Amino acid sequence: MTKDTFYVTTPIYYPNDKLHIGHTYTTTAADTIAKFKELQGYETELVTGSDEHGQKLQKAAEEHDMEPLEYINGIVKTFKDLWSTLEVDYTGFIRTTSQEHKEDVQQIFKKVYDKGDIYKDKYEGYYCTPCEAYWKERELDEEGNCPDCNRPVEWMEEESYFFKMSKYEDQLLEFLDENPDFIQPAKRRNEMINFIKDGLEDLCVSRTSFDWGIPVPIDEDHVIYVWFDALISYLTGIGFGSDEKKYNNYWPADIHIVGKDILRFHTIIWPAILMAADIELPDQVFGHGFLTVEGGKMSKSKGNVVDPIKLVEDFGVDAVRYYLMREVAFGTDGSYSTEAFIRRLNSDLANDLGNLLNRTVAMVEQYFDGVIPEPGPETDYDLDLKETANEELTAMAEDMENLQFSTALEHLWTFIRRTNKYIDQTTPWILAKDEDRKDELGTVLYNLLEALRIIAIALKPFLPEAPAKIWQQIGIKSDLDQQSWSEVEEWGLLEAGVEVNSGDPIFPRVDIEEYFAKQDEMKEDKEEETAEMTEEDKITFDDFSKLDLRVAEVLEAEKIEDSNKLLKLQVALGEEERQLVAGIAKHYKADELVGKKVLIVANLEPATIFGTESNGMVLAASNDEGELTLTTVDQDIESGSKIE
Ligand code: ME8
Ligand code: MG
Repeated sequence: MTKDTFYVTTPIYYPNDKLHIGHTYTTTAADTIAKFKELQGYETELVTGSDEHGQKLQKAAEEHDMEPLEYINGIVKTFKDLWSTLEVDYTGFIRTTSQEHKEDVQQIFKKVYDKGDIYKDKYEGYYCTPCEAYWKERELDEEGNCPDCNRPVEWMEEESYFFKMSKYEDQLLEFLDENPDFIQPAKRRNEMINFIKDGLEDLCVSRTSFDWGIPVPIDEDHVIYVWFDALISYLTGIGFGSDEKKYNNYWPADIHIVGKDILRFHTIIWPAILMAADIELPDQVFGHGFLTVEGGKMSKSKGNVVDPIKLVEDFGVDAVRYYLMREVAFGTDGSYSTEAFIRRLNSDLANDLGNLLNRTVAMVEQYFDGVIPEPGPETDYDLDLKETANEELTAMAEDMENLQFSTALEHLWTFIRRTNKYIDQTTPWILAKDEDRKDELGTVLYNLLEALRIIAIALKPFLPEAPAKIWQQIGIKSDLDQQSWSEVEEWGLLEAGVEVNSGDPIFPRVDIEEYFAKQDEMKEDKEEETAEMTEEDKITFDDFSKLDLRVAEVLEAEKIEDSNKLLKLQVALGEEERQLVAGIAKHYKADELVGKKVLIVANLEPATIFGTESNGMVLAASNDEGELTLTTVDQDIESGSKIE
């Protein structure tokens, strides 16, 4: 059955940090296939978002001394800015903290619970917070770390709700058997099947040791496991529970695009949850490969994280998207390198495509006063060009069907290179010398422009900017956005008699050595700047003496309602009494503070925190592990004493 809708998703990324080239890879692929389907006439939905709950996020916010949502809001903004820089046209952005999503998750949890597929028991095992995943002892790596990311795991013992995943073992195997294309690429299919055959354990789907999550609908002491929550965003994204018509139109999803790191969650846990909730399964899950940098994993500590925004600033959005879709076969791992990137940009975009456009428009100006000629009689070269167009574009469409972006582009480039060769074969500069061959010359130039028309449309899903520039230069009046794939399949739609508009090269060449030299220079400048800054960062004695630091005795302390971090303190500074708010509730109980002498900044501007006025700041020492201890005086001294 052919569908007239197409629904594709990206993972909803964790907003614990800015996104890098790896996340950009997944989202660019999803946007490219969405745009391609759109071009083919499908009504398309592309849903992305942010996975905002869980221990990892709570910890990240704490490390920045912020409330979770306050911290997350800032990062989610950087997600949206990145997608807009890359001209990703998502139709839905699901934040898992939205009311709509919370309701969907609770509804599905309740449904599975009512069915008897969720039960309460005690969990004992290991947890990997970076992956938000549970592991049994036997599953850990040789060092006893997470088998996925090799980072330390934490032992956990909690009363939890469990999802009866084991019950769905046979049903899952049967489904995978009947739907051999469900898991892509095919080579990953067996891994998943073997995982199921090894035996599925029931899945722990609630936590009590922290509270940053969606409450379990039947038990407020528990929050729902972040993956049970996150996966449901794919339903929220097309109106489950809010827009029945849209939901029925788009679900089941045509494809979830994810990285291979989270394929198991999408091909085992997700289908099992859907089966339990009596919801249809998506058509396909594609787990693409990982991008490495110089053969290694990207990581902050190595300082090799590639920032897509910087790449767009340096090379433009088209080049970045082209490189990502062209360089590595979708499904295999690949290595990012700026040098390879610039080489691709120069050879494919500047040379093959850019020159074709330049040469063609220049010749129309030179030989036909800039007016597109009528095509005349055809030679073998012309027929062969048309045939190549037909073959390569058909092959391109087939590859797109299988998300083989790289070979799809290769086919398009075979046509582009063939078109360049056509110029060399037909030698327009020789035809132009012979008035009798004007017809032939007209055919050549018409065909070149016609090829560019087709190329511009076919490139639209990949390149957000160049197609419009090509369109403008080859003088087509009709709206590029109105074009569809059927206009790619038909030769001869270009209207003659219209004027071309020559313009700047659409892809200027980048000199590799010059680029790297400039980067080095900028790095040095920056290092000098930071060196200067550290000197400027020193404060004068006058600056220091502006601080009024005092010894304060805690008279009363109590927790601030609705906050798990804040305590309200009444302190004495000699005769004077004051109220302060301190973010130390995780480290001190209210009553153990009473009678302590602590150090405070007494002349800090008053502030209202969680509705409570605070007149000063309590000083404490803390380390990277998040441990914290209050500062105090070595020997007893009366409150109000000045610290100098
Ligand atoms: O896993 N190469 O979020 P996440 C290629 N919140 N792709 C990469 C990559 C790399 N080096 N690094 C990351 C989560 N990715 C969950 C998802 S979905 C219901 C919940 C991409 O922020 C790739 O798509 O850790 C990978 O699967 C995803 O980012 C992981 O993003
Ligand atoms: Mg991850």
